[in-house]
Amino acid sequence: MTDRAAVLTGLGVNVPPHVLTNDDLAERMDTSDEWIRARTGIRERRVADDDTATADLAVEAGLRALKSAGGTGVDAVIVATTTPDRICPSTAPEVASRLDQTGVMAFDIGAVCSGFVYGLAAGAGLIAAGTVDRVLVIGAEVMFRFMAPADRSTAVIFGDGAGAVVLRAGRSDELGAFGPFDLGADGGGSDLIRVDAGGSRLPASRDGIPADAHFLHMDGREVYRHAVARMVASSRTVLERVGWTVDDVDRLVAHQANSRIIDAVGDRLGLPAAKRFLNVDRYGNTSAASIPLALADAGLSPGDRVLLSAFGGGLTWGSTVLTWPDITVG
Ligand code: COA
Repeated sequence: MTDRAAVLTGLGVNVPPHVLTNDDLAERMDTSDEWIRARTGIRERRVADDDTATADLAVEAGLRALKSAGGTGVDAVIVATTTPDRICPSTAPEVASRLDQTGVMAFDIGAVCSGFVYGLAAGAGLIAAGTVDRVLVIGAEVMFRFMAPADRSTAVIFGDGAGAVVLRAGRSDELGAFGPFDLGADGGGSDLIRVDAGGSRLPASRDGIPADAHFLHMDGREVYRHAVARMVASSRTVLERVGWTVDDVDRLVAHQANSRIIDAVGDRLGLPAAKRFLNVDRYGNTSAASIPLALADAGLSPGDRVLLSAFGGGLTWGSTVLTWPDITVG
């Protein structure tokens, strides 16, 4: 087998400027800053204005990632998102063209909060197969727009943002090379995080849809239980595949679902708190955007061994590892 790995060569992020604090939410619904912080670790989140769609956040993150990678083009654009601009067409072709990448393959990945890791795996697979040399993988979300205004069990959790990476073909022993991937899904839990209306089962129609069916619904307690179990098992699988012990990991950069999930995963893996990165306090759960947003903030140094792990609706999950390269975040 040829040694053709996907190497991280650029990273860029973009969040909308508007900050919505827990106190702001407490003015709209029966909740409190204290409850939200204690249960989730979230203090505030960013919320896109009404004129901003997922592609708009994605384009700016993509531009910054391309600049971070040296400004050259790519052969594929993958957009991981739970909140595409439209049901049809997918969001990636528009994003690619707005980034002056018209003509390259462009497609969306829908794996909810695991979407970014799924997107990385798809990009790495295209590179390993020799199909492409450079891939832009973007995670972008306008989640808050899908929160029912009166649903305190979801509105306090999710936020908006985008992050992007450029992958290039390289060797597996280079800094920045992504290691093995572990991905999985369990459709038996598909009702646990869901938006019912707008798809083929319950189309938006002239007759309208049941109240709130176009908003996100979540069984938080069940999701919590599955998330911890799956992220722990998936993390152990990739560590075993790459031949690292838990002690070899310098940083766990997990999907920022909430601080309690990340701490439970860290505890079960035996990874000390100082090695678990958290920025969920500032952004909330930005679904497919959370891992690149966390990578940008984690203060990683070249050579740091990083474990990525995600869990999301579907149910879906995924993990991978990389050794941090010498890049400047855009
Ligand atoms: N503010 C105040 N009270 C709230 C509240 C809020 N925002 N949301 C729920 N409550 C109340 C409930 O009504 C309930 O009240 P009751 O005991 O009088 O019935 C009580 O708090 C406990 O609710 P529960 O849903 O059991 O809370 P929890 O401890 O499970 O915490 C979550 C709720 C959502 C924070 C938690 O389940 C969680 O983190 N789940 C994972 C969610 C997630 O990360 N999803 C994305 C994964 S990718």
